[in-house]
Amino acid sequence: MAPEPVVSTVAIRTPYAARHLRIGLFGFGCVGQGLHGVLNRSAGLQVQVQQVVVKHRDKPRNAPAELFDYAPEAILANPAVDTVVELIDHAEEAWQIVQAALQAGKAAVTANKKMLAEHLREVVQLQEQTGSTLLYEASCAGSIPIIRNLEEYYDNDLIDLLQGILNGTCNYILSRMYDEGAEFGDVLADAQRLGFAESDPTLDVDGFDAKYKLVILTLHAFGVFLRPEQVLNVGIRGATAHDFQFAREKGFRLQLVATSQKVGDTGLATYVLPHLVPASNLLYNVSREYNGVIVRTAFAEQQFFQGKGAGGFPTASAVLADLSALTHHYRYEYKKVYQGTRLQPTHQVELPVYVRHTPDSPLLARLNLRDIQARHVSGGYAYTIGTVTLADLLPLQDELNTGESFVAVLG
Ligand SMILES: NC(=O)c1ccc[n+]([C@@H]2O[C@H](COP(=O)([O-])OP(=O)(O)OC[C@H]3O[C@@H](n4cnc5c(N)ncnc54)[C@H](OP(=O)(O)O)[C@@H]3O)[C@@H](O)[C@H]2O)c1
Repeated sequence: MAPEPVVSTVAIRTPYAARHLRIGLFGFGCVGQGLHGVLNRSAGLQVQVQQVVVKHRDKPRNAPAELFDYAPEAILANPAVDTVVELIDHAEEAWQIVQAALQAGKAAVTANKKMLAEHLREVVQLQEQTGSTLLYEASCAGSIPIIRNLEEYYDNDLIDLLQGILNGTCNYILSRMYDEGAEFGDVLADAQRLGFAESDPTLDVDGFDAKYKLVILTLHAFGVFLRPEQVLNVGIRGATAHDFQFAREKGFRLQLVATSQKVGDTGLATYVLPHLVPASNLLYNVSREYNGVIVRTAFAEQQFFQGKGAGGFPTASAVLADLSALTHHYRYEYKKVYQGTRLQPTHQVELPVYVRHTPDSPLLARLNLRDIQARHVSGGYAYTIGTVTLADLLPLQDELNTGESFVAVLG
């Protein structure tokens, strides 16, 4: 006789009834359209888009015309909207929208890292004052669920390093220059066509975008509020064929890496710099528009996240995850901040570096480069390998971003 089927008698119930969200969406560009597509295909989420506000009246839209409006009040003063999704490309206008939404008692979701990094303290205070919730998983590392993991999974583990490739555009450009010998300008144009690049490419290629993300992640990983201007950002504009040749010959990949690391018991060093990454580093295989994040903790040791860091659908997937979290009444508790941190920003950290320079350049002396391990001069190409401190690099940030010379951390 066939055995009786086993029937579970345990009813699984969710602790809260999931909320139904009525959304007002600002922006219908790469990510806004991606979100619209994702919501249409996502079963189970109780979400309805009430209104979309955009800027230009004459642009063709691939959604019903009655959804669109051009006045912010169509969302912000609309009692039918309880959740504002802000996906525009202008940081200060985005901040006006987010403030107005939270003050009106609406929840909000944003992907705008520049706005968040520049207003991080106010973002936390405003949520406390209004009781409204702001979520922003899509602002850092695209589709990688890093902020909520830092908040929830690592809430009590002691993180000593957070390091990542956080800008998909730079990684895409560097990968193609390394693999194909492609030209910087051509690859940047391709990244813009594919929707990875910011409207202002300076934000990507000079490391500002990665820095804004690092400022946000540092708050959730270490509980430290940083102003963007406290963090060094040197981008990839200076990388030449010589530097890629050096990387290939020595078995490195050239990548733009953002780092937040504990220094001693009380210091925290944060910086965005090109790195010559060895094959033993987990970031080595992160290529094209992918992002990767390493989290190193006292107990879990090293863990690694990888996923698409840019593009309409990958970024929209993170917005979708925030909307889903809102339906379950989730909000960031800023646990590391309230646990009380003793960490203070420091620039006293030593970095082994490759410096490409003109043969008689005063740069090496100005960098205070020491512990020289190698020098090379042939024709117009010269490099020196040695050690600098972050404090020595900071005053030269603007000069290094002009692309005349090039510095990359070894490791
Ligand atoms: N693209 C990515 O891969 C990516 C990845 C992560 C995060 N993000 C972030 O996501 C956000 C959106 O990026 P995106 O690439 O989707 O930008 P985008 O393609 O340039 O689209 C911007 C959209 O915002 C609208 N807009 C601009 N100013 C507005 C205003 N004052 N009021 C209402 N609408 C306004 C534009 O309207 P019109 O259509 O009328 O011009 C457009 O629809 C940015 O914060 C970006 O940093 C993007």
